[in-house]
Amino acid sequence: MNNALKSLLTTCLALTAIGASGAQAAEPLVLQKVMRDLGSNMQTITDGISRGDWELVEKTAPLIADHPQPPLAEKLRIMRFVGSDMGKYKAHDSETHAQAQAVGKAAKAGDGAGVILAFQKLQTSCYDCHREFRKPFVNHFYGTR
Ligand code: HEC
Repeated sequence: MNNALKSLLTTCLALTAIGASGAQAAEPLVLQKVMRDLGSNMQTITDGISRGDWELVEKTAPLIADHPQPPLAEKLRIMRFVGSDMGKYKAHDSETHAQAQAVGKAAKAGDGAGVILAFQKLQTSCYDCHREFRKPFVNHFYGTR
């Protein structure tokens, strides 16, 4: 094998190695798991509404209102990234908390229409944060995919 071909092969192998390591997805944030659980709890509530099972709704709403938080080290990474928008980010989280509580309260009163109204506001609170922050988070923490 001549030298030019040899060096070409070496380069290819090196690039493949870089490509392989680059393709390895970044470790997902704990936040992502928290979010998935929020999503599935929202589905449970939708199901509760369909069945008029206000007990189920009442029991599920606090799992959204008081969702777990990422560990401190991850919170610091998030705070470093969000920077001066942290106030806005937290305001979205508080809104979700408040609306989930409203869903629970209406469910406790057996007020179906109230549950639906509060649930819509709850969905809007999720959406408002996603609209502003989700894409930047995904780009920053996982690289553009
Ligand atoms: C304060 C901001 C904020 C609020 C409020 C918020 N989210 Fe999220 N959500 C995010 C961010 C940031 C991501 C991207 C996280 C990631 O990919 O690591 C995300 C991602 C998600 C995902 C996708 C997870 C995946 O598998 O990629 C789901 C589902 C989700 N959120 C559900 C919800 C629901 C349901 C609510 C409301 C009850 C909600 N979120 C409220 C910030 C928020």
